[in-house]
Amino acid sequence: MENDFEDEAYFAQNPTSHLAKDELAADNFIKHHSQAGHRVALVTSGGTTVPLEKHTVRYIDNFSVGSRGAASAEYFLMQGYAVVFLHREGSLTPFLRRFSQRNISLPDVLVETDQDTFRISAEVKQEVQDTLKSYNRARTSNMLLFISFSTISDYLHRLRTIACLMQPLGSVGLIYLAAAPSDFFIPSDRLPDHKIQSRFTDKSLTSTEWLSQSSSQSGLRSTFPQPPSQFTLHLDPVPKFLKSLVERWARDAMIVSFKLETDPDILLHKARHSINTYRHHLVIGNMLVTRKWEVVFVSQQNDDRWIRASKSGGWSEADESPLRIEAIPSTDPEQELESMIVPSVVQLHEEHMARPGSCRKH
Ligand code: PMT
Repeated sequence: MENDFEDEAYFAQNPTSHLAKDELAADNFIKHHSQAGHRVALVTSGGTTVPLEKHTVRYIDNFSVGSRGAASAEYFLMQGYAVVFLHREGSLTPFLRRFSQRNISLPDVLVETDQDTFRISAEVKQEVQDTLKSYNRARTSNMLLFISFSTISDYLHRLRTIACLMQPLGSVGLIYLAAAPSDFFIPSDRLPDHKIQSRFTDKSLTSTEWLSQSSSQSGLRSTFPQPPSQFTLHLDPVPKFLKSLVERWARDAMIVSFKLETDPDILLHKARHSINTYRHHLVIGNMLVTRKWEVVFVSQQNDDRWIRASKSGGWSEADESPLRIEAIPSTDPEQELESMIVPSVVQLHEEHMARPGSCRKH
């Protein structure tokens, strides 16, 4: 390995806050379910941010809203898994996602009956009741733990901590990486403390002094002529954490990663490259425009398998995938893709646990 402890330096130099609280919650949750003989899935969901300042006003973000992770978490719960839902703060969450995805807001569902009382409007009553029942059941039975992140550093610290806490579960643990983590970031020691100024304001400094001061402190460089009107971001690559996850943090768990591409010509190649490089158990490939209705399972056995749901939810013909390879079509127009992905993953997890020499701890 070129850079054995690359990620150790990353963690030391790029801190997070409030980790101890999340670690305690995850530890209690995992120990409880280990004793109860339950399978435990860590589901990651949503995009990470890359701050441009320590007191963050500006940051880089990505497209992920957490649909895949939130829906998958629900189906893992239905399969009897206890779920640690490691998600981007404010992104979609299991069950409650149904309201946000349909743009249902409080004024749409609540009808005022008198001064202090509201009732739920008739059109959505059944759906609201069913959703709340499922959500409350998961929370009151302690089967669902929410842990949130915002920055890439928050995410990686929590991923490492929770994966290590799951080690004692052996092969009963499942790690399902549906989040969209940033590939590039600005290291903490290069971040300016305060909001980046768009204009040179400190009259006591010459433009050259200002430039050298700001660029030495940050990953940002502004090119003159003054006042600075352009700046260039210098981003470092995020260490390839999947390698550490597979080799050190979660050696016995089943590990499923996702591979997102926008160019159909490289999706399979990149997914195979990932499985061959990291030697984990499954890569689920998806394309940005078709991710809601088709994915491909790529495993070490080289037996790529496409799973496809119907195009409900307003997909236009323009969204048709150029990938035309054997698929398992769904016949139910309302069937969500995750309701097909998760049972297939669970089946592979069962095979993983049954493998001779598997470190099953229950
Ligand atoms: O949230 P939604 O809007 O529903 O969208 C769902 C999704 C498209 C985000 C999800 O299905 C998905 O594909 N998630 C993975 C997105 C992603 O990060 O893809 P990638 O190709 O950039 O990275 C692939 C993998 O490389 C990562 O899962 C990780 O295992 C590995 N990686 C990435 C970055 C990094 N620094 N180190 C890594 O090891």
